[in-house]
Amino acid sequence: MGFFITFEGGEGSGKSTQARILAQRLRAAGREVIVTREPGGTPLAERVRERLLAEAPKLSPEEQAVLFAAARADHVEQVIAPAIERGEWVVCDRFADSTHVYQGAAGANMALVEALRSVAVGECEPHLTFVMDCPVDVGRARVAARTGQDDPFDRDGDAVQQARRDGFIALAEREPWRCILVDASQSRDAQSEAIWNGVQDRLVRPPMARAD
Ligand code: TYD
Repeated sequence: MGFFITFEGGEGSGKSTQARILAQRLRAAGREVIVTREPGGTPLAERVRERLLAEAPKLSPEEQAVLFAAARADHVEQVIAPAIERGEWVVCDRFADSTHVYQGAAGANMALVEALRSVAVGECEPHLTFVMDCPVDVGRARVAARTGQDDPFDRDGDAVQQARRDGFIALAEREPWRCILVDASQSRDAQSEAIWNGVQDRLVRPPMARAD
């Protein structure tokens, strides 16, 4: 069995960059690695992504949650679960915690969000989740420095972005066995080191220690 690692966090928190760096380091260490993202990761899910991001301002948080979950179910079934079964490592840029936090912060019915999670994710829960945390203004400045990539969620105001940040921190506190909170305002290299050490501590060293 392989491992499933997710990156979560607010806008401009550097998830995608760190997901790529982690994948490179794992490959250099001889692992088979798939890097993927949500919403997306399969042809169907990429189409849902395109429509969803275009229509998001017109949709209720529950409608958004259903669409994110539909894309996720396909992604889990077609890509993530089979790769883990083959013994590969899957590094995913956003996953079900994003629905909990984003649609949750927008007021979605949380019983629905939880039910959708169990339908879409099933047994395929991440083994490890890096929660990339930085102040809202730091993330906003990074998004502004990118070109042509912003989506309707990037444009939400500070109060919404702060509620998401609080939601991600609460998640890391609620599930410390799975989550590691990373200070995403430090240098890129310092973040990568923290992430690499987290992988060693949580996923690589424990089985070796048991074998001694
Ligand atoms: P993405 O393009 O990956 O943006 P980012 O670079 O910020 O990760 O994701 C698209 C947007 O969709 C992003 O603003 C977060 C939002 N989102 C949700 O609201 N719920 C979800 O379940 C997921 C996966 C993403």
